[in-house]
Amino acid sequence: MRAGQSAVTRRLDYAPPAFWIDSVELTFDLDPAKTRVLNRMRLRRNPDVPAQPLRLDGDELNLSRVMLAGQGCSFRMDGETLVLENLPEGNAPFELEIFTTCYPEKNSKLMGLFMSGGDFFTQCEAEGFRRITYFLDRPDVMATYTVTLRADKARYPVLLSNGNLTDEGELPDGRHFATWHDPHNKPSYLFALVAGKLVAREQRIATRSGSEHLLQVYVRPGDLDKTEHAMNSLIHSVLWDEARFGLPLDLERFMIVATSDFNAGAMENKGLNIFNTKYVLAKPSTATDGDYDAVESVIGHEYFHNWTGNRVTCRDWFQLSLKEGLTVFRDQEFSMDLAGTPSARAVKRIENVIDLRSAQFPEDAGPMAHPVRPDEYLEISNFYTTTIYEKGAEVVRMYQTLIGREGFRKGIDLYFQRHDGQAVTCDDFAQAMADANEGSDLARLLPQFKRWYSQAGTPVVKAQGRYDAAARTYTLTVSQSCPATPGQPRKEPFVIPVQMGLVGADGRDVPLQLDHWQQAVQGSHTVVLTEGETTLTFIHVDAEPVPSLLRGFSAPVELDIDLAPAQLMHLLAHDSDPFNRWEAGQQLALQTAIEKIESGADTALAQPLNDAHLQALRAVLRHPQLDAAFKALVLTLPDEDYIADQLDTVDPQRIHAVCEAMARQLATELRADWAWAYEQCHDTGAYTPDPVSSGKRSLAGLALHMLCLAAQQDGDAVWPGKAYQRVKDAGNMTDRLNALHALVYSGHELAGRALERFYTLFKDEPLALDKWFALQSHAPDRGGHILPAVRQLMKHPDFSLRNPNRARSVLSAFCHGNPAGFHRRDAAGYVFWADQVLALDAFNPQVAARLARAMDAWARLAEPYRAAARAAIERVAAHAGLSNDVREVVTRALT
Ligand code: ARG
Ligand code: ZN
Repeated sequence: MRAGQSAVTRRLDYAPPAFWIDSVELTFDLDPAKTRVLNRMRLRRNPDVPAQPLRLDGDELNLSRVMLAGQGCSFRMDGETLVLENLPEGNAPFELEIFTTCYPEKNSKLMGLFMSGGDFFTQCEAEGFRRITYFLDRPDVMATYTVTLRADKARYPVLLSNGNLTDEGELPDGRHFATWHDPHNKPSYLFALVAGKLVAREQRIATRSGSEHLLQVYVRPGDLDKTEHAMNSLIHSVLWDEARFGLPLDLERFMIVATSDFNAGAMENKGLNIFNTKYVLAKPSTATDGDYDAVESVIGHEYFHNWTGNRVTCRDWFQLSLKEGLTVFRDQEFSMDLAGTPSARAVKRIENVIDLRSAQFPEDAGPMAHPVRPDEYLEISNFYTTTIYEKGAEVVRMYQTLIGREGFRKGIDLYFQRHDGQAVTCDDFAQAMADANEGSDLARLLPQFKRWYSQAGTPVVKAQGRYDAAARTYTLTVSQSCPATPGQPRKEPFVIPVQMGLVGADGRDVPLQLDHWQQAVQGSHTVVLTEGETTLTFIHVDAEPVPSLLRGFSAPVELDIDLAPAQLMHLLAHDSDPFNRWEAGQQLALQTAIEKIESGADTALAQPLNDAHLQALRAVLRHPQLDAAFKALVLTLPDEDYIADQLDTVDPQRIHAVCEAMARQLATELRADWAWAYEQCHDTGAYTPDPVSSGKRSLAGLALHMLCLAAQQDGDAVWPGKAYQRVKDAGNMTDRLNALHALVYSGHELAGRALERFYTLFKDEPLALDKWFALQSHAPDRGGHILPAVRQLMKHPDFSLRNPNRARSVLSAFCHGNPAGFHRRDAAGYVFWADQVLALDAFNPQVAARLARAMDAWARLAEPYRAAARAAIERVAAHAGLSNDVREVVTRALT
């Protein structure tokens, strides 16, 4: 570790830059071994800040020359920072020329300028631009960029950067050049270049305002047949943002480029989005329905950043959720709007909440818990978290819940009216929302609402209902609390919108009338909690209802309400809110799971689910009106991570045993129903990724899984045989992978042959092969066989630790995705984890730090896991030369 690299950055230390950079001219002589970069920029002093030296960020650069106004000048190095002290006084602009070199082919961190498949790519967010040239590499310094790329023409026929192509031509020695000019001011983290042998799918579009644009999706030559869905998703994104938010495309040309070596999912560089291939490439034979959905939402996400992120950017990185939470909210709304029907929308909402609860809730309960607007970081890359993204999106959603869709739109309009072209803060966003909605609950409660940005932890809403037959009243006592998180022992009450209804004995919503209201409302009502405790009295209630709280998951909280199984079953059968209908099923299963986990007895594993519960699930499965996608979600039991998050002491093996027992019982007792569902849904004809047919594939996949699991109990060969046949001849990847999954997860002897078959079919399709690796790494552990299998997979000729997607397909799938395989009594999983974190950290700290987070929940583990986990984390922490990324994760874990 170098001096100056280890400092903590604090939000309250923000100071405006001492200089502004107005324009940048970059010239690249691209060569994988040694790329030369000439940076000519126009700077001026920031008149609002006392005079001080210019300090330019750099990281692993080789400096050749610095020129001030065309003359050599004096400078010094402070660690990696280039310091210029003798600059002209006054506020006149001056020109600085910096000549550096970097080594793209040695850039294994994949930050800055790096190689992938022989082509050049960049990744600059958050602090990668300083690996390309010396700069004020901070988001509040915005400049216009003119970029010239020079490279060998045969090897790099395509040369791209942000903005518009203004010139191109030939150079001596078989080289050529292209010059790009981006007219929009932008921070350095949005800079991008691409050079290589690429081909593009192109589409010209005219938007409703009549402007014309060229859309391009660039990929490697063999991948053009996998770009149709990406292009369609991009077109939908452009049209949707204009229709829903009045935000047009502001560029003549919008480019997406795919690379197979990428730390993150994608990057919203102005006009030149760079994507992980995983979120671009899709064709029916190689991509699943889940992949199609993910492509659509990530393409939407990056496109929507063009306004929320690029036109209005972040003042500093503590404001990251300003753009990420808002943009995730926007991509979620986009996917819901495209899904169409209320049921399909609900399915999307449920899927988002499942992810939030199994990843963000645990994060908020662990050592890395941080507010949506963090207060400090050691390495900003560690804060591209599910809290910033997904919880941030829930916070934005609560604005919409509080002020309504129209009020939200007004707030967005005001936000852009005030801040277009600026680098701003979460406070600016909140203020625009409130000012555009004067007199609203939000405006009135804004300072308190903003606690969502400053307080970490998942609030708990505890509710208790009491029916008074004589008075015909139903009283709900609702209280809120929030557990302590690192650095925040005590929390103030949040503003929590609780959308609710009361479900009558006939299954219909009871009209709601609070005691101080003149008349009743039909259906749902949103109660806004602001106090530690609130009492709500509903009048004219003729019979005891079942409360349905937090409909649509109206706030990112844990709801603690003691409903009896019969009440949950009532909601599961009748709730008019599809989210809560699903939720009732989850809570029913969760209650059983927790009871059986805590009982500790082996007998608890025999028949964990009671008859009434099974009947209720059967009724959903056989329901004549419900959509297949919704049925599949209801019939899927809560995942092991979510269950673990509910427990004070976590025994991963016990959780796994109970979950397996529940699944086995669900498989056998509903066997005939599963067979019926499979017959109903297994043939969806020619592949399209629409919600109805993907819902059917999802239910057919679950059914086949259950049927293979049931077959394992009694040696039936029919269903495993069908699954094997499907692995061989399925017409699309979703059906094929589901069939393979059914065999591998049920542990059937055909699984091995099916895996071989799959490998032979897809050995030249990296993304499909990632699935093959991942499936084996997160398969259920039986007697500890997974870790040896994982070690074996790492020796496979197609495995590489250097490729982030491949590394994650084995290591994350195992350490994050397979609790029972990972948490072994012999501690071998933890030893393996420590070895791999250290191995990765030597060349790619970001990927290493993500893997390091697999141990977040160590302190709540039962013994012997806890002590062994701690020892493994300590071993990593003690390693000399650890990156800031990993050091921050393990240090927090140990405090
Ligand atoms: N802004 C990108 C996106 O969410 C992600 C950038 C990831 N950068 C990082 N250092 N992890 O669209
Ligand atoms: Zn983003």
